[in-house]
Amino acid sequence: MGWVQRSPVTKRERLRPRLADIMLTIALSKGKMLDLTLDVFRRAGYALGSLSTESRRLVFPCPEIGMTFLIVRPTDVPTYVEYGAADIGIVGKDVLMEQDSDVYEPLDLGFGACRIAVAALKGQASRDRLSSKIRVATKYPKITERYFNQRGVPVEIVKLYGSIELAPLVGLADRIVDLVETGNTLKAHHLVEVECIAQSTARLVVNRASLKLKHAVVTELIKKLRAVSCTTTGSRTSAPRKSSRGARRTVKRTRR
Ligand code: PRP
Repeated sequence: MGWVQRSPVTKRERLRPRLADIMLTIALSKGKMLDLTLDVFRRAGYALGSLSTESRRLVFPCPEIGMTFLIVRPTDVPTYVEYGAADIGIVGKDVLMEQDSDVYEPLDLGFGACRIAVAALKGQASRDRLSSKIRVATKYPKITERYFNQRGVPVEIVKLYGSIELAPLVGLADRIVDLVETGNTLKAHHLVEVECIAQSTARLVVNRASLKLKHAVVTELIKKLRAVSCTTTGSRTSAPRKSSRGARRTVKRTRR
């Protein structure tokens, strides 16, 4: 029997974690986007096992693919990622625009497309009240304030947490700023879209430290999700963009 001499394993090699040993924690937005997100992961080749949208469970360890999934409110996803409780998050651009979180945003996943729009009751779309300020109901106070400030329109913002379309019907507001996807909810409440503020799609965001410390697995995931994403927009370069605050950073290519 032949004896094969093995090259000695260096101390550095012994200490370096194998790619397969690095776990990623991924915060997913519950609600409308969850099924679409799971579909993208499955199409990218990740077996999600017991992960189901029916369950009340909030944590789904999937050790066979090196991932643990957390199911959280969409507005909480950037917080989990910014503080490092999750390495990665999947969340709508609308949430990122509102929160201005310190996370990287390297990938536009393309699904969940909708727009953030100003709407008003039919017949009141072209004229504002005679009062100096218009009252705007929204769950996006920062986006709303920025938008109207840039146009020099004085507004009073009424923060709501849902069912925004109700506000003009009961005299709580003159306008709303809300997400519009099909436009059916506006139509059902006799509202019309006045202006589009921004388009929104699902984005993949990454914690700053995870991008450095788990670089290879993070870039591998981004590469696989990008390959099955239905968008050509967003960053296709290897340089993830910071979501809002801070400067661009270059990410080293993974050596294979
Ligand atoms: C969102 C949004 C609109 C609706 C738009 O609400 O706030 O109400 O979807 O969709 P459409 O244009 O296809 O009708 P969501 O269901 O998230 O609930 P919420 O109103 O409680 O926020």
